[in-house]
Amino acid sequence: MSDTRISLTTGAPGAAVLGIGAYRPRRRVTNDELSQTMETSDEWIQSRVGIAERRWAGPDETVVEMSVAAGGKALAASGLAPEDVDLVVVASASLPTMIPGAGPEVAHRLGIRRPGSYDLNAGCAGFCYALGAAADAIRTGSARHALVVGAEKLTDVTDLTDRSTAVIFADGAGAMVLGPTEDPGVGPVVWGSDGDQRDAIAIPTGEDSDGKLTMAGQAVYRWATTKLTETLQQAMDRAGVTAADIDVFAPHQANLRIIELMAKRLGLSEDTVVARDVVQAGNTSSASVPLALSALLESGEAKSGDLALLLGYGAGLTFAGQVVRLP
Ligand SMILES: CC(C)(COP(=O)(O)OP(=O)(O)OC[C@H]1O[C@@H](n2cnc3c(N)ncnc32)[C@H](O)[C@@H]1OP(=O)(O)O)[C@@H](O)C(=O)NCCC(=O)NCCS
Repeated sequence: MSDTRISLTTGAPGAAVLGIGAYRPRRRVTNDELSQTMETSDEWIQSRVGIAERRWAGPDETVVEMSVAAGGKALAASGLAPEDVDLVVVASASLPTMIPGAGPEVAHRLGIRRPGSYDLNAGCAGFCYALGAAADAIRTGSARHALVVGAEKLTDVTDLTDRSTAVIFADGAGAMVLGPTEDPGVGPVVWGSDGDQRDAIAIPTGEDSDGKLTMAGQAVYRWATTKLTETLQQAMDRAGVTAADIDVFAPHQANLRIIELMAKRLGLSEDTVVARDVVQAGNTSSASVPLALSALLESGEAKSGDLALLLGYGAGLTFAGQVVRLP
């Protein structure tokens, strides 16, 4: 038995977000369009979920294609060259194939040579999980620059004639490029799960299943509005900031009522910009947080240097949140 000690690498004091990119599928689907094929109405959808329209991807807008589009924009915004990136993580709950994963192909398509690369499925919390893992990789020295993508084609796993899910879930991709910094731009991730509620959002298997997503809407609503304020508070505590310091609140875009309730409970300042991308984008699962941030930066509502509080939550049930400084 060798008693040689294993030595460890240490990376940068912190990781920072260097660029954000997004891809929204071409096709807009309004509530009125949906009400032509199922028993629903614009009034019901807007009042219960706050969605006015969503994007549905076409056959050519695959998880990989959307990831490449969003990742390419994030890379361009970061000012880095593809060869600078040595870690690529794709968070998705709607990958078309389990083998091979999407990450290596996305990296290859972007000209990123031989990075560490994997996919991560933590339901709608996937992006915040991946962001936490990538930032930690930069701090431990396993990576220097990371591309983190959240991409979903939920229309592939949704019964588009089932009004309880079809009006909610949608498609898109968002991405961030991270790099090393002295002054941390990504706070510690607070992550967790409640596996006793694994059936609340699921794609049931077995003979009776159509392979489509089912959701116990009320149970998820109750869980999200009672359990997650604590997670948001912990994310701020661990980053050493208070609600008064938060410029932008960008939680998972699942339901406008949940977003408004969380914002109220946190005691955010009146000036805090609250992401409401769900109104235009629907619930895009692990793509929703970077899509929402990208929209706020594009419109000028959020600015470079702003402190943003992020939260992802969903199937598992899983949750993850952190504070980041916007690039
Ligand atoms: C899904 C959600 C919008 C449903 O709203 P709700 O107020 O709980 O509605 P319910 O499921 O109790 O359904 C109420 C009625 O509306 C009906 N309904 C469901 N979807 C409908 C639709 N799109 N249009 C019209 N009626 C609809 C139901 O069939 C039910 O009818 P009934 O009373 O005749 O049985 C809500 O529960 C929710 O947002 N939950 C959180 C989900 C979430 O955030 N998921 C994402 C996690 S990643």
